[in-house]
Amino acid sequence: MPTTTNSETNAPQRPRVIEAVRWSPDGGAVRIIDQRLLPAEYVELDLRTLDEVCDAISTLAVRGAPAIGVAGAMGLVASLDAHAGGAPGDFGDRLVAHAARIRATRPTAVNLPWALDRMLGRAAREQGPPRAILTALRDEATQILAEDRAMCRRIGEHGVALLAPDARVLTHCNAGALATGGMGTALAPIYIAAERGGRVSVFADETRPLLQGSRLTAWELARAGIPVTVLTDGMAASLMQRGSIDLCIVGADRIAANGDFANKIGTYGLAIVARHHGVPFYVAAPTSTVDPEVPDGDAIVIEQRGGDEVRRSFGRLIAPEEAAVYNPAFDVTPAALVTAFITDRRIVRPPYDFSGWGFE
Ligand code: MRU
Repeated sequence: MPTTTNSETNAPQRPRVIEAVRWSPDGGAVRIIDQRLLPAEYVELDLRTLDEVCDAISTLAVRGAPAIGVAGAMGLVASLDAHAGGAPGDFGDRLVAHAARIRATRPTAVNLPWALDRMLGRAAREQGPPRAILTALRDEATQILAEDRAMCRRIGEHGVALLAPDARVLTHCNAGALATGGMGTALAPIYIAAERGGRVSVFADETRPLLQGSRLTAWELARAGIPVTVLTDGMAASLMQRGSIDLCIVGADRIAANGDFANKIGTYGLAIVARHHGVPFYVAAPTSTVDPEVPDGDAIVIEQRGGDEVRRSFGRLIAPEEAAVYNPAFDVTPAALVTAFITDRRIVRPPYDFSGWGFE
């Protein structure tokens, strides 16, 4: 349900710091920014029920790999609140069922199953009545949020070393504050550079079909006072050909053990163009995006989304109803095209081996 509505022309309540996911003031709901409406409207939503949590994740009201991990963990807690007065057996069954439904909302980003497995692991270690278990789960979800925020900052601090003071950075989709619990991944080095007085500028691929680049990346950078230029996806190659881009930084949804990674559809093409033009291509991601269980990119499941996302735009038909639509949400970029990964631990350079990565 909407809590705060303020159009961009009249937005006195819009908070200075972007918090894409947080607890509502009463602690009973997950408060998110409804990213389907940006940049035209700033609306916050409180998610309390399982249906509300699943709908928000699958319709991209909350999106971005780290943010859906955090929202999934917090949403699990919120959705169980109404059931904590019941019998322990019933509560345990609901916990497993709610986690399974949230997990099924989006298959590609590993952060979502990673966060839910962490929640189930915490529940398994707890003793006591459902209310006590729910308190422990709330504590775990709050920790996941806090850790994500800290990982973003560390990514920024590592990545800023790669940026000249006046670097021109090309990015794809949105891997900023809106996509995480903190300041973002791909945008974190840019925010830190700006904090330190740099004059970094950003070129944001529009990112068809859902326009996360033009709607979200450009919105949050403009709001922070960082120069941003929006381009349609097909324009990136000509910008690089003209020598107008110093480096690319993108996010990731899942990084395989060999360094192949999934990210928003279009990332692979961008990496090829960058390689062709000798432009460094960096991937910024937290440890929670590494999946050491997946050996390589072939084993990453790619989410396929509905054809109307491509067929319609702004409520208008832009392709004939009869035309089939190809709409994978993500693609896989081979590790060989990655100059380095910018992680919360360190900058990782080839040859890549993430097989020992994990939290335990
Ligand atoms: O479909 P989306 O908007 O969730 O896709 C998001 C991306 O592809 C991001 O680049 C990725 O999740 C990294 S976000 C820090």
